[in-house]
Amino acid sequence: MLHLAVFASGRGSNLRAIDQAILDGQLDARIVAVISNRAASGALDFAREHGIPALSLSEIAAEAEDSWLQEQLAKCGCDFISLAGYMKLLPAGVVSAYRHRITNIHPALLPSFGGKGMFGRHVHEAVIASGAKVSGATVHLVDEEYDRGPIVMQRCVPIADDDTAERLATRVLEIEHRIYPESLQLFADGRVTVRDNKTSIRS
Ligand code: GAR
Repeated sequence: MLHLAVFASGRGSNLRAIDQAILDGQLDARIVAVISNRAASGALDFAREHGIPALSLSEIAAEAEDSWLQEQLAKCGCDFISLAGYMKLLPAGVVSAYRHRITNIHPALLPSFGGKGMFGRHVHEAVIASGAKVSGATVHLVDEEYDRGPIVMQRCVPIADDDTAERLATRVLEIEHRIYPESLQLFADGRVTVRDNKTSIRS
């Protein structure tokens, strides 16, 4: 079983999808903490409503963030971290302490349309402006850069000629809600190995 800390900055729909998959018996995990860099976030509200420890980074000084986070993660028994709409880089010490045990979800097919500033609506606008015919969602392991690290799972959605960023975002989000719990279950089952910066999934 994964003891998950979910980091989320915003509304928290991926957090809800993870929680629902656990309730439905599709994901062998327990959410041990929800952590946000924004005090007012839907994700923290959800955690409080569901009796999950809800931690805000907004009062923590930047230089204390790394050690504070490592301490809190240890305290709540976290053994795996999922970024779910977390719009800030994780401190290097946390990345290193949880190497290959941190995932992120991104609303496009990485390594395209990722990196600093590529979040939410900006991603879908860039995808549509590029003339790409497909987009999708990516779950990947996290390293020290935004949206980089070995890819775990991707799924595509077609782009219609008259698509808007809003419509594309809605369809990609549906995919996100499916592939994030599925990817986490691969880790819960111990099926993911990492070599040469690539993952392989044992069947
Ligand atoms: C999701 O679409 C997620 O892929 C994206 O933020 C949204 C969060 O929604 N993340 C990124 O863009 C990371 N680069 P949610 O708060 O409803 O889960």
